[in-house]
Amino acid sequence: MNNSAIGVFDSGMGGLTCVKELNKLMPNEDIIYFGDTARIPYGTRSKETILKYAEQDIALMKKHDVKMIIAACGTVSSMVGMNKNAAGDIPFTGVLLPTVQTACSKTKNGKIGVIGTAATIKSGSYGKAIRTIKPDISIIGVPCPLFVPLVENGFADRDNPVAKLVVEQYLEPIKKDGVDTLILGCTHYPILHDAIADYMGENVELISSGSEAAKYACAFLTGKDMLTERTVEGTISFYSSDSTDLFYENAHAFLGEQIHGTVKQVAMEELTALA
Ligand code: DGL
Repeated sequence: MNNSAIGVFDSGMGGLTCVKELNKLMPNEDIIYFGDTARIPYGTRSKETILKYAEQDIALMKKHDVKMIIAACGTVSSMVGMNKNAAGDIPFTGVLLPTVQTACSKTKNGKIGVIGTAATIKSGSYGKAIRTIKPDISIIGVPCPLFVPLVENGFADRDNPVAKLVVEQYLEPIKKDGVDTLILGCTHYPILHDAIADYMGENVELISSGSEAAKYACAFLTGKDMLTERTVEGTISFYSSDSTDLFYENAHAFLGEQIHGTVKQVAMEELTALA
């Protein structure tokens, strides 16, 4: 048994798609969430910068004595790769491995599409991870840099004409390729789920990287006997590096409900002094 919180971080609000699933699977667990909203996007930055930011985000999580750290960010996960020791002696997972394991188990025709930020797709991380499980899978990866700003600015409804147009532009080559499984390799993208599903059609299964990381964490903590012994609902504490007002305003789109509790701001000086 372990009553400490689970730490989850992302460059912004996208990691809340992981929190939503964690809370569904393990409602009694406490969760600490950090969104580095002052430095989003990570996905357009260099590997060195993303790794530096990730180091600081992990150090912040450690300050809260969490029992496990989840990088609920496809971009950070892609730069960290399969390194399970990214948080030293604290159990750590990114979204990469949990997501590709599910995608490989779901595909029937052996064709998987991957969408993510520019840094994620450039790294080829999902493809490399898929090939460690199933070397003969055909993979097509497309960066979708406009998806994050669309989502963060509320242009994500299935009927939104801008969202529909951008989805069509980006996903056309993937649709033509005939994939039957599409990895939403950035944790922001499930907010565009309906628009993407409408365009790809019902025969394509969409895999949410945030949800898969949550399922993995649940299995891990259960297997290691590290779940809380509390029998009452846990609390979720939110932190952001930019305006907490914006966080309050936008979080419900990711969590499916308004935030209960507080959002605290982490000063940039505090964050950068950590690592
Ligand atoms: N949520 C981040 C990811 O999963 C994307 C946002 C960003 O570019 O920072 O990759």
